Amino acid sequence: MLGRWLRGRRVACGGHDCSGTWAEYCLVGSKACLPLAKQLTLEQGAAALANPTTALALASLVARGKHRAYVQTAAAGQLGKMILRAARDRGIEGIHVVRRAEQAEALRALDAKHVLVSSTPSFAADLRARAAELGATIALDAIAGDMTGTLVTALPKESEIVIYGALSGKACGEIDPMALAFRHQRVRGFEIAAYIEDLGLLRAFRFATKAQRYVRTGKFTTTIAATVPLAEAPARLAAYIDRMSDGKLLLAP
Ligand SMILES: NC(=O)c1ccc[n+]([C@@H]2O[C@H](COP(=O)([O-])OP(=O)(O)OC[C@H]3O[C@@H](n4cnc5c(N)ncnc54)[C@H](OP(=O)(O)O)[C@@H]3O)[C@@H](O)[C@H]2O)c1
Repeated sequence: MLGRWLRGRRVACGGHDCSGTWAEYCLVGSKACLPLAKQLTLEQGAAALANPTTALALASLVARGKHRAYVQTAAAGQLGKMILRAARDRGIEGIHVVRRAEQAEALRALDAKHVLVSSTPSFAADLRARAAELGATIALDAIAGDMTGTLVTALPKESEIVIYGALSGKACGEIDPMALAFRHQRVRGFEIAAYIEDLGLLRAFRFATKAQRYVRTGKFTTTIAATVPLAEAPARLAAYIDRMSDGKLLLAP
């Protein structure tokens, strides 16, 4: 029935449970398709599924956990900026961690009050002090590697570290077991596809519609660095990986 309703519509779909989106055609189940609002361009549609829904879901996680403030890593990325916006809409303050000083400036231009640069020598101490001051008892971590251990140590007692990415390419490390045992810190994972599935069909549809509204009204934007044909993707990926904050590469078969 859902498949019939979707027939002829423009949709966005995830890449996990389908035959792969880096292709001219792909095969995907109707439940994994998000019908695109008429007002959305295809470029906006290409970025309308994963990041906008993830930003809303993570902001809701922070709000439902009654955390006074949150820490987020990879804050200068497209998703980081959406998390900033979604949490601000709920009146929640964030501590935004970036890896380069110029990224801190870009975030301050978006009115982010608390921005820390992870490459500075005082980063761990600054993070600890700021998290205590603001009552940041949850961290949204897209980096993993040793960053996870830094967050576990820096956040106040009984904090939660939510791992939703692995941009460092490394396993979570440097996690102090004493902090887990005696300061009751917790580390857990998050995946948007599982979150949406748990919502059930009707709530998932409403949720995806809300995410598209954020895109349509310009609350969530995605910077596109370039649109390239599939054949150029391997050559262009290296530059993207080097400076991811500059924007996404759109593949146009
Ligand atoms: N779990 C889920 O359901 C889910 C859903 C959506 C997205 N994600 C994940 O969320 C992450 C962020 O997505 P995005 O769209 O915001 O990516 P993006 O726009 O490409 O931004 C990535 C950001 O992370 C920084 N970065 C990259 N590698 C880093 C490292 N090793 N150490 C510190 N900073 C690093 C980049 O800085 P530079 O400019 O310096 O490169 C950039 O600011 C990705 O890992 C994605 O897979 C997960």
